Amino acid sequence: MKSVVVSWQSGNAPDSKSGEPANTGAQVQILYSPYMTVTSTPVTSLTGVLFVYAFKSPQNTVQLAIRTDYRKEDDYMAINWDVKDKSVIITGGAGGIGYGMATAFAKQGANLLLVDVNDDGLNHAKDELSSYTDVEVLNLDIAEKDNDKEIIDTAISKFGKLDVLINNAHVSHQKLFNDLDEDDFNLSFNTSFNPTRHLMKFAYPYLKKTKGTVINFASGAGLVGQPTQAAYAAAKEAIRGLSRTVANEWAPEGIRVNLISPIAETEGVKQWAKADPKQYAQLVASNPMKRLGNPETDIASVALFLASDASSYMTGQTLMVDGGDIKLR
Ligand SMILES: NC(=O)c1ccc[n+]([C@@H]2O[C@H](COP(=O)([O-])OP(=O)(O)OC[C@H]3O[C@@H](n4cnc5c(N)ncnc54)[C@H](O)[C@@H]3O)[C@@H](O)[C@H]2O)c1
Repeated sequence: MKSVVVSWQSGNAPDSKSGEPANTGAQVQILYSPYMTVTSTPVTSLTGVLFVYAFKSPQNTVQLAIRTDYRKEDDYMAINWDVKDKSVIITGGAGGIGYGMATAFAKQGANLLLVDVNDDGLNHAKDELSSYTDVEVLNLDIAEKDNDKEIIDTAISKFGKLDVLINNAHVSHQKLFNDLDEDDFNLSFNTSFNPTRHLMKFAYPYLKKTKGTVINFASGAGLVGQPTQAAYAAAKEAIRGLSRTVANEWAPEGIRVNLISPIAETEGVKQWAKADPKQYAQLVASNPMKRLGNPETDIASVALFLASDASSYMTGQTLMVDGGDIKLR
């Protein structure tokens, strides 16, 4: 066993960039030994899982032995979670889960193109996130096919490449099937399925160059057939069918296509809750975790995983990020 003995330091280690105490979420497993007297402390500014032994030295000062060989160093380095300097497009990036993902990717140093129809939200995102990374914003309606081409062209002209396309925006009306009209179906498909397929097609030559990834958005409403969600559910399941097929077609070229089916507390969900408070209450009550997800810390973390090489052997998959609400088999 390769061990490193270091002097005990209480408190958080400083973040390498800001010098402020930071908690990077490193997991620490404390292993007990007969000599151990100290059993827990946050370990910060470290990535990965460390095995930490704490004991008293002969001089009675507390020391830590950090076991670094639980994976061989080379193996550990081979797992690449990094999205730094990746060029990422997020539709609907000014609000809800889109903004949560924008925040998470910006903090990891990815370069972002956020597309939205919400000008205030876009300005807010640029103000908040530009200190982390290069954030470009486009106020465009993704329902227009010409705009979809402009989105890809803009990302290429700003960043010179495209690594990750996230098709997140979607708008729909909740009504019983018999009350849905042509406009309702058009709204749902034109803000989701159609821009998703257009953007994927325009992005293809660039994703091929970078062996990039696509992250599309599904919904439990589509998977279970939630009443009043026919227009939405139909578009979501169309996106899943499209994603599975394109995942197969593009896999030999190294482009991966996956989906997230989330549950998160967002503006869109708040509006839906107002329109159907009973269904909203049922959603929370029946959720194993009895809460909705946080767009940044619960949902965007999975998007980071799908965007990074850590998920290099996954394609065509729907990841349920919903507190255990639906278990796909
Ligand atoms: N929040 C949930 O619990 C939940 C559950 C299942 C699926 N989803 C899916 O996750 C994704 C994000 O959901 P959300 O709750 O964050 O949505 P949201 O409604 O809170 O945010 C959507 C964003 O898209 C933007 N947008 C809307 N129409 C647009 C257009 N035509 N062009 C460009 N931008 C547009 C909006 O301005 C907004 O910023 C969606 O695909 C949604 O269907 C969410």
